[in-house]
Amino acid sequence: MSKSIFRKKSVAKILADVECGFSDAEHPGSASQLQKELNVKDLTLMGIAAVVGAGIFSTIGEASFYGGPGVSILFIITAVTCGFSALCYAEFASRIPVAGSAYTYAYASFGELIAWIIGWDLLMEYAIGNIAVAISWSTYFVNLLEGFHIHMPEYLTMDYFSAFRAQEKIQELTAAGKLGEITDNMKSAAVAWANAPGLGNIKLIANLPALGIVFIITYLVYIGIRETKKATNAMVILKVVIVIAVIAIGFFYVTPANWHPFMPNGFKGVMKGVSGVFFAYIGFDAISTTAEECKNPQKDLPRGMIYSLLICTVLYILISLVLTGMVNYKDLQVGDPLAFVFAKVGLKNISYVISISAVIATASVLLIFQLGQPRIWMSMSRDGLLPKAFSRIHPKFHTPSFATIVTGFVVAIPALFLNLTEVTDLTSIGTLFAFVLVCGGVLLMPREAAVKGKFHLPYVNAKFVVPFIFIGMIYLFWKPFLNILAGENIHEKFPFFLFIILSAALTVAAVVRNLSLIPVLGLLSCFYLMTELTYQSWIRFLAWLLIGLVIYVLYGYKHSLIGKAESRNREVKPTGFNTKSPK
Ligand code: ALA
Repeated sequence: MSKSIFRKKSVAKILADVECGFSDAEHPGSASQLQKELNVKDLTLMGIAAVVGAGIFSTIGEASFYGGPGVSILFIITAVTCGFSALCYAEFASRIPVAGSAYTYAYASFGELIAWIIGWDLLMEYAIGNIAVAISWSTYFVNLLEGFHIHMPEYLTMDYFSAFRAQEKIQELTAAGKLGEITDNMKSAAVAWANAPGLGNIKLIANLPALGIVFIITYLVYIGIRETKKATNAMVILKVVIVIAVIAIGFFYVTPANWHPFMPNGFKGVMKGVSGVFFAYIGFDAISTTAEECKNPQKDLPRGMIYSLLICTVLYILISLVLTGMVNYKDLQVGDPLAFVFAKVGLKNISYVISISAVIATASVLLIFQLGQPRIWMSMSRDGLLPKAFSRIHPKFHTPSFATIVTGFVVAIPALFLNLTEVTDLTSIGTLFAFVLVCGGVLLMPREAAVKGKFHLPYVNAKFVVPFIFIGMIYLFWKPFLNILAGENIHEKFPFFLFIILSAALTVAAVVRNLSLIPVLGLLSCFYLMTELTYQSWIRFLAWLLIGLVIYVLYGYKHSLIGKAESRNREVKPTGFNTKSPK
């Protein structure tokens, strides 16, 4: 087993499977029947559609609260990190233009077990990420309804635990005489708790709008890529126009004094926002799942990813400067920071327009993630790692029908009950891990000569740069490193310890094996950002991977098509004749 769990699928085999169908009789007709509809403009718009959403409309608030105006530096750091990963994704997308994204790339470079882990991890990125986006969408949608004087009962607009905790917190604050600390959010959650039908602590509290939007989006994705593309293009243009308008109008209301001090809580405060800021960038990678629906994936996919990342980076840096320039950073710990700052400077109408655009922006993120997810299920099923129903293509709509429906339920049902911050952290750590593996995967692929019309990752020998970075890191981190051994809660510093070991190993490998610089920097920077996330997120993430591993051992390992082919070959070899396999 130890050998075969690392069995690889060659790039030639991956491409042949998609072109000609699968060699296994259990998967008839699973050759790609997806419609080739997308060009570079569609892909760039889809990238922006997937990226600009709950992050910039919600989680930026908390990050700015901790980091102050310096959060704009974090947007740059994160963009550079994502840029390295985007280039690695682009290299893979141009070599292996099929729907499985990082999952397929890992199958070719690391072998089956790691491919499974990354596929499972991507499901977390898309599913849990979309749960977060659906919850955020619901918050803005409910606010919007209020604007039209339509009131939904609070207990149908939030999750059970938020309501439960809020009423407990209010009781606690009231008992302590700290009435001033009771926020409006807490009050409405307590109203939800008080009015919800049920008995004792068993109450019906659920986020119905979150469920509704996921079902609507799933239907759209189910009926076809062309419909999805049209809806995405329309939504994305609108939201980019709104974001640019926010920046342009906001600049007139900036008070430069708010930018001083630039990093009120130091660099540590800035780095506290990693999860929220990184969440804002997640999504550019999702377009790689549409490879089989692109007209010219080898050229257009890399461009689409890089263009969308560049555009979003510029927008984000400007927005963060406007936001922290309009009000004091201490006011920004709110769920709707963009709408909030405009209301605060007296522009209520603009604040209202922002709420509408937030509803549209987050809906388009949902759309892209709901589109990406079933295509990964589909790829895993084609390889036999998941039941074959997941690779079924709808005869009329040409979409992965069964996988799309399952995805809808997998996101919609938990969205009824889960809490936003917990799911955001989990999404960020899962996505960073996927990026680490993609960068690592590029390092394992044999180097190829540049071919005209195909994206090619520029090669710079890492040995001329990485040792100096490592020396710089030792200079910067030697104190925190010594603290690992001396301080309390040593187990919580384990991720940072791992990072130091990984950096040392990679520096040696870079020198000995002449590794390519960009993937090495991508790997190091993504892993570093992972170490900035909470220990709880690491534990939850590892638990998720463990569940995936159990499913692989119980199902995927046995049903893997590559595994079956391997066994057939083994059965043939002992005869010494190169004939057909025994029946
Ligand atoms: N980047 C996406 C968003 O912010 C996930 O909603």
